[in-house]
Amino acid sequence: AVPDDHVIVLFGATGDLARRKLLPGLFHLAQAGLLPARYRIVGSAPAQVALSGDEFRKRAREAVAEFGRSGPQGRAWQEFEESLSFGAADPEDPEPLLEAVRDAGQAVGGSPRRLFHLAVPPKAFASVVEMLGATGLAEGARIIVEKPFGTDLPSAQALNATIHSVFDESRIFRIDHFLGKESVDNVLALRFANGLLEPVWNRDHISHVQIDVPEKIGIEGRAQFFEGTGTFRDMIVTHLFQLLGFVAMEPPTALAAKPLRDEKEKVFQSMRPLNPAQVVRGQYAGYRDEPGVDPRSDTETFVALRVELDNWRWAGVPFYLRSGKSLGEARHVVTLAFREPALRMFPLAARGHGTRSNELVIDFDDPGRIAARFLVKAPGPAMRLSEAEMVFSYAESFNTRHALEGYERLILDAMLGDQSLFTRSDGIERLWEVSAPLLQNPPPVEPYAPGSWGPQSINRLIAPHHWSLPDRR
Ligand code: BG6
Repeated sequence: AVPDDHVIVLFGATGDLARRKLLPGLFHLAQAGLLPARYRIVGSAPAQVALSGDEFRKRAREAVAEFGRSGPQGRAWQEFEESLSFGAADPEDPEPLLEAVRDAGQAVGGSPRRLFHLAVPPKAFASVVEMLGATGLAEGARIIVEKPFGTDLPSAQALNATIHSVFDESRIFRIDHFLGKESVDNVLALRFANGLLEPVWNRDHISHVQIDVPEKIGIEGRAQFFEGTGTFRDMIVTHLFQLLGFVAMEPPTALAAKPLRDEKEKVFQSMRPLNPAQVVRGQYAGYRDEPGVDPRSDTETFVALRVELDNWRWAGVPFYLRSGKSLGEARHVVTLAFREPALRMFPLAARGHGTRSNELVIDFDDPGRIAARFLVKAPGPAMRLSEAEMVFSYAESFNTRHALEGYERLILDAMLGDQSLFTRSDGIERLWEVSAPLLQNPPPVEPYAPGSWGPQSINRLIAPHHWSLPDRR
């Protein structure tokens, strides 16, 4: 499907996200023929950092050259570049933006749909939304909202109230770029299209689940943002809990936004409030020396925690989540560990050294990979078990050249009005509610060495199981 004609307005057009992801992503959608037949993109920012149209186009060209998959060349680029204009917007003086949106609408012709993408810092958020309401720009329009969706329950409720005062929920697209990853959607296919897996995806067969998103990078100069945020808010409440929702949900009654989101929210409803005694907060050695970081900072750069779901499918199956900066590897992995068979016919001595239980490992690093790990008999006269692995790799099985990145897929869905992969206000608020005990009573941060896999105490957290990363791939 190709979206209706659009005027897309990008607030925060001079910012980092626009440069790294949004402008290159929009250009890739244009190249792939997935933008509407007629569209215009209006960049916007407050007057003191406003650009001229030419400056904005130059900046977009540089962004695509640096971060795009192919450079700003050819007819596709020319057409894309011609669609770009700029309109400064201050809440007290929205006139330049109004004019730019009017011109863009006329250039498209007819009555194009407006899509506002708010890539702005939290403190600017309310005033932009109110301005969209007061000027009438919001009428009939959709809005894409970037995280953070609050920092705790009261702030999330206040934020939702602000957006709802201007946009109703059906026009709000809270973006979580993890959910745009091909492999996350594939979790639905894997679970609900396969008789091999669907019957075993529950507490009868699965002993525990790990959702692991270690990062190699540190805070990359983002001290100001990170100091006030930390890994729990930056990664766990947003991305990892959302993944948990997909892995754990009941089959939706149909593959459509409402049933899918209903099932995801039910998972969040069944989450037990976090127990601070089952959370490890870590901070990499050297973090306090980073420019802009408080030398006594207790902001965490690492979190590992245990989540329990009180529902029929998952009662008694712990979910272990881990994410952190400056770790040994950058990965995005969900591991389902299966129970051992009831009767162990193979004496321990005959098992290969260090073998572990069966696992299904979903690697959702783009372009994605799934491995099933199990035990086989090693060749030879003795009955000796050895680990084996069956692997499906998107890159080897499909041409993934045209696959969309998370942001691209989600911006396309927002233009199409499909909310399946976006987060609803009730889900967000519930996640802050279950997080409250941890936010109110955080355990002290424990140091860890950069390049490691976090503080030692994470092994106690998961005992008697073991973290499945680092693996032996
Ligand atoms: C962002 C976080 O949302 O996700 C960053 O703010 C993090 O701190 C990033 O590095 C990770 O995304 P990805 O897709 O690179 O794993």
